[in-house]
Order: sequence, then C-alpha cells, then structure tokens
Amino acid sequence: MHTKVICPGSFDPVTLGHIDIITRASKMFDCVVVGVLNNLAKSPMFTTAERIALLEKATQGLPNVEIVGFDGLLADYAREQGITAIVKGLRAVSDFEYEFQQALTNKKLNPELETVFLTSNSEFMYLSSSMVKQVASLGGDISSFVPECVHDEILNRLK
Ligand code: PNS
Repeated sequence: MHTKVICPGSFDPVTLGHIDIITRASKMFDCVVVGVLNNLAKSPMFTTAERIALLEKATQGLPNVEIVGFDGLLADYAREQGITAIVKGLRAVSDFEYEFQQALTNKKLNPELETVFLTSNSEFMYLSSSMVKQVASLGGDISSFVPECVHDEILNRLK
C-alpha cells in the first residue's frame, strides 16, 4: 500500500523541531506532503509563498517530501489528494488538548483520515516558531533553533 501523509502547520517560520518530525515521517511513509496553511488564530510574519520557499530549501535532501500551500479545510484537502493520515509532533502535555481537539474535528470531517502523533525529540521539546521570532527580533542567536540554510533568510526578513 502506498502511504501518503500530510504534516500540516503554519511553519512561520520552519524550525529544527519541524524538520525533525518531517524527516522521521519521511522514513515511515512513502510520500510526505508538508501542508503550509494559515492558522486563522495567528497573523503570520511570513507570507505563505515565503514559508513554502523556506521549507523547500530546508527539505531539499528528502526526495519523498513535497511542500504545498492551500486554503480551506485540511480534511477536504486530504480527501481530494488521497492522503490517509495527518502526522504531527507532540512536544509537551500543553500541546495535547489543542492537538486532540484538532484530531477529533478532522476525524469528524473526514472519517477516513487518521492522526498520528510523533513524540518530539527531547532536544526540541521547548521549541516553537513564536519563540524563534521573538528571540530573532530581539537580536538573539537562533542558530540552534532553525535549519542553517534558512537562518540568514529569516534574519534578513526580520530586518
Ligand atoms: O502550526 P499550527 O499553527 O499549530 O498549525 C495549525 C493548522 C494550520 C494545522 C490548523 O490551524 C489547520 O489545520 N488549519 C486548517 C483549517 C482546518 O482544517 N481547520 C479545522 C481543523 S483544526
């Protein structure tokens, strides 16, 4: 069976925690679609096109990973594209309630769609895009938080 899954998120911007989950998913499944969406609860710092470009650079070495941007419901996109599971990283207990709510909503909207959680690597348990943006905008060093190939692009964008 050909397994096609999706790693959805706002990726504003992509962090090493995201790359860890995408890389591990790419070893488990035949095809990993990274879905760049707008989270209606957040106002993004990078446009969708910019976030896609950063992710494309950071996943260049992963041949079974493709980056897409779309609007609308994740559950509908998965149905249209033959995607059977959502793969997400779980960092801490604090993530659980929100992730559980999303997983149950997506299951209701598309009963064929499973949600699979990968435990975050302990090195990235604390990491979030919001934290990266805050540290970078205050002049802090983000080199251990984001992929090397996108580090300067993030700093330039924040100037
Ligand atoms: O990285 P984020 O911001 O936690 O990602 C949240 C995201 C984009 C995955 C979520 O907001 C989402 O799935 N949005 C698409 C709209 C949708 O399908 N909403 C209903 C299920 S939550």
